[in-house]
Amino acid sequence: MAEKTKKIGPFQRPKGTADILPEEEPYWERIRKVVSAFAHAYGFSRIETPLIEESALFERSVGEATDIVEKQMYTFRTRGGDSLTLRPEGTAPIARVYIEEGMANLPQPVKLYYIGPMFRYEQPQAGRYRQFHQFGVEIIGEQDSASDAQTMQLFWVIFQELGIKKIHFEVNSLGCPQCRPKYRTELKEYYRPKTAKLCPDCRRRLKENPLRLLDCKNERCQELKANAPHLIDHLCQECHNHFTSVLEFLDELEIPYLLNPHLVRGLDYYTKTVFEGKLLSDSGVEESARVQELGGGGRYDKLIELLGGKDTPGVGWAAGVERAILVMKALGIAVPVVTPEPKVFLAQLGDLGKKRSLKLFEELRRAGIPVAESFGRSSIKAQLRIADKLGVAVALILGQKEALDGNIILREMRSGVQEIIPLGRFIEELKKRLKK
Ligand code: HAM
Repeated sequence: MAEKTKKIGPFQRPKGTADILPEEEPYWERIRKVVSAFAHAYGFSRIETPLIEESALFERSVGEATDIVEKQMYTFRTRGGDSLTLRPEGTAPIARVYIEEGMANLPQPVKLYYIGPMFRYEQPQAGRYRQFHQFGVEIIGEQDSASDAQTMQLFWVIFQELGIKKIHFEVNSLGCPQCRPKYRTELKEYYRPKTAKLCPDCRRRLKENPLRLLDCKNERCQELKANAPHLIDHLCQECHNHFTSVLEFLDELEIPYLLNPHLVRGLDYYTKTVFEGKLLSDSGVEESARVQELGGGGRYDKLIELLGGKDTPGVGWAAGVERAILVMKALGIAVPVVTPEPKVFLAQLGDLGKKRSLKLFEELRRAGIPVAESFGRSSIKAQLRIADKLGVAVALILGQKEALDGNIILREMRSGVQEIIPLGRFIEELKKRLKK
């Protein structure tokens, strides 16, 4: 009796994820190429970390009272009982590697870059997904403001090269454990009389992590922050000098920036400089593709220590690949194709013709001639129809007789003129025709 199969599907990709189809690949290839070329030129080496990490790594570094840890992590228990999380970002894993691999023993600073998928359970919209990709850079082991500026310079030149030229940075300083506590107290004092007007999340944040109030997307909370005190007015001398020096470097590099005293970013590990790269209002990008920010980052001088390493400074940023592509498309930026269009179609007829065709295909590849085929079809008519559809200039036909005689037929598709050529010099002949 025939086995009964229950019909299942059709399946759909999970919400907030995307298939990168072949026609999209040129954009991805372009970004990978530009990022790696520029990162290498600036002295960064590529690093790849696992997609899963111990959940506690992110809880401790990104911060318990952040949206990422509270609401957006894909966390699960393994069969062995461990709690693992799909990485929502790349900095904490790199800090973990720095400690685990004893990178403090390498010449400092250690400069690393990465490109890869990240996961956040967010409400999907244009430029916001649940599986998305970041490219990012980190400089670990250097506290000088020149390294903040150098990472920003690299961000800037990468986006210029991608053709997204009309951008600027919003910058702020979040101070350090010396100067931040006093500011935090002042911020609490500012918000306390307004508690009733805050969203429920912010009421809780006020107790746990008041800086996060400045990051709330709720409209009422946004209005309330307008008169909130500024951290840059409370910086200690060292943080003040550091910030001034970063801005002087940006001036020297002629990189445009805007001070945004309320910029805190959504992760808790930042100290001193924070920044976000954004499109300028006259960037020419239509409303639907006006993504929030292209990328963001900052300094994290306490992160390595927080994760159990020695007191080691760091600075870096990450940018969204999907967001960059969205903007490139909106600006009409053309990208080179990944696989060249085929110029030649290789048709075969009969057993011997078919048997020899795979070898010929490889000969054509070695000669650098992009070639198409349809080895599953046996009728010449059907194969030539495909050749026609592909718009190739020349079809090569290898029939039983030609294969026996050591020849091949070269057919010019436009005129239909055919010529028999010895297999020994068909590449040479073909190249001549293609030149025409
Ligand atoms: P982040 O601001 O959370 O920073 O993310 C950096 C960039 O990733 C964003 O500016 C955005 O372009 C992209 N991105 C974030 N979430 C999504 C999403 N749901 N869908 C699409 N794109 C998204 C970090 O992740 C830090 N690790 C950056 C850093 C590196 N700081 C220091 N070093």
